[in-house]
Amino acid sequence: MRITMIGTGYVGLVSGACFADFGHTVVCVDKDSGKIDRLHQNIMPIYEPGLDALVASNVKAGRLSFTTDLAEGVKDADAVFIAVGTPSRRGDGHADLSYVFAAAEEVARALTKPAVIVTKSTVPVGTGDEVERIIAEVAPDKGIKVVSNPEFLREGAAIEDFKRPDRVVVGAEDEQAVQVMSEIYRPLSLNQAAPVLFVGRRTSELIKYAANAFLAVKITFINEISDLCEQVGADVQQVARGIGMDKRIGSKFLHAGPGYGGSCFPKDTLALLKTAADNDTPVRIVEATVQVNEARKRAMGRKIIKAMGGDVRGKKVALLGLTFKPNTDDMRDAPSISIVQALEDAGAKVHAYDPEGEEQARPLMPNVEFCTGPYQAAENADALVIVTEWDEFRALDLKRMARTLNQPLLVDLRNIYPAQFAQDAGFTIVSVGKPAIDTPAHLEAVATSAA
Ligand code: UDX
Repeated sequence: MRITMIGTGYVGLVSGACFADFGHTVVCVDKDSGKIDRLHQNIMPIYEPGLDALVASNVKAGRLSFTTDLAEGVKDADAVFIAVGTPSRRGDGHADLSYVFAAAEEVARALTKPAVIVTKSTVPVGTGDEVERIIAEVAPDKGIKVVSNPEFLREGAAIEDFKRPDRVVVGAEDEQAVQVMSEIYRPLSLNQAAPVLFVGRRTSELIKYAANAFLAVKITFINEISDLCEQVGADVQQVARGIGMDKRIGSKFLHAGPGYGGSCFPKDTLALLKTAADNDTPVRIVEATVQVNEARKRAMGRKIIKAMGGDVRGKKVALLGLTFKPNTDDMRDAPSISIVQALEDAGAKVHAYDPEGEEQARPLMPNVEFCTGPYQAAENADALVIVTEWDEFRALDLKRMARTLNQPLLVDLRNIYPAQFAQDAGFTIVSVGKPAIDTPAHLEAVATSAA
C-alpha cells in the first residue's frame, strides 16, 4: 500500500514510521520545512525511545520519505492519513479543527486517483461528515472515501503501542474503504497481534474520546481514594492491587499521583464535555473528573508546603521530574507547572532536574533554577520532591541524597519509594495515599491535605 501521512507530530511520525516498518511505502508531509530538513538528517522533532532508529532503517530501506510538497506526497497514495494537531480552541474548549479541514481540502484537490482519506487526529463526532462535505465541494468526482481511525498510542511507549495495540478501531461507511483499511492493517490481523474493529464512522470518533475519558476517570478515582486512604490509615497501592485483581476492574491506570496531564487527557475530556453539552446530554462523571484533576494539581503544591512545616519563604525545594510522565519531553498540562507556581507563590526557590524536559519547561517556569542532575538539584535543599517517575530516580543513592539536602525530607508524589526504605536511608518521607506512620507531628496534617 502507498500511504501518505499529513503532519509529522507525535501521531503522524510514529504511525508513518511504523506503517513503513510493516512494509508499506510511506511519505510523510509537513509544512514546516525546518522539521522536514531535520528529519532528512534523522533528527527527531520529539523525544521518543527507539523512534530515530526505526525512522533511519525504514528510510534506508526506501520505504519512508519526507517532503514539504503535499501535492507530490499524495500523488500515488491509496490512503492519506491526516494526523495534524487539534488543540483546544481558546475560550470554549472545543477542539480546533481548522488544521484538519484545511489538510482535507488540500489533499482532495491534490489527489489524482481514488483514495481513502483517514482522520487519525482525535476529532469530535461528526468531523468525518464535515470532511466528506468539504471533499464533495472541492473534488466531487474523484472517488474519495472518508474514514476514521483513531490512534491510542501513549507517549514514551508509542512504537510498542502502535505495533502491538489492544485493538485497532476503524470507522468506515463504505466497502471499498473497509478493504483498503483491512489491507493496511493486515500485518497486525494476520499475526493475530490485534483485532481490527470495524464500526460506523461516528462510533469510531466517539470511541476515542470515551476511551480517554474513561482512563482519566479511572486515574481520578484512585487519586480521590488515595486522599481517603490518608484519612483512614489505608494504603492506596494495596487498595489498587486489591481492586485491580478483579478482572472487571483491571490493574492498569490505578497509580495514584499528582494528577494526569499531557497532550490528550486534558484536551480530550474537555472536547467530550463540549460535544455532550452541544447535544444536551451531560456526562457528569467526566465533568467531575476534570474539576477534581485541576484541583489536585494545585493541592500538590500545598501538600509539599505542609510537609515542609507550612512556611517555605526563603527555602529551597528540589524537584525531580517535570514532564507530565517519564520518557517524554512533553510538558503540556504537566502537574509540575502548578506545583512550581504554588511553591514560588509561597516564597520558595525551586531547583529542578528533568532528564529530557528542560527545554520545554524553561519558558513555562522562568524563575526555576535548572540543574544537570538530581544530586546537584538537591544541594542544600530543604525538601526533595519526586514529581515524575523517571527510572533514573528509582535508583538514587538515598543515603547520599539525605546528606546532600539541608533537611532529609522526601515528598514522593509517585510512590516510587517504600516508606521503610526511605526511612532507613535517613529520610522523613511523605507519600501519596499512605498511612501517616512514624511521621513527625506536622506531617500528620500533610496526610490529609491533598483534598
Ligand atoms: C494517553 C492514552 O493512554 C493514549 O491511549 C492516548 O492515545 C493519548 O493519551 P499519554 O497522554 O501519552 O496517553 O500518557 P498516559 O501514559 O496515558 O498518561 C497520561 C497521564 O496520566 C500522565 O500524566 C500520567 O502520569 C497519568 N497517570 C497514568 C496516572 O497518574 N496514573 C496512572 O495510573 C496512569
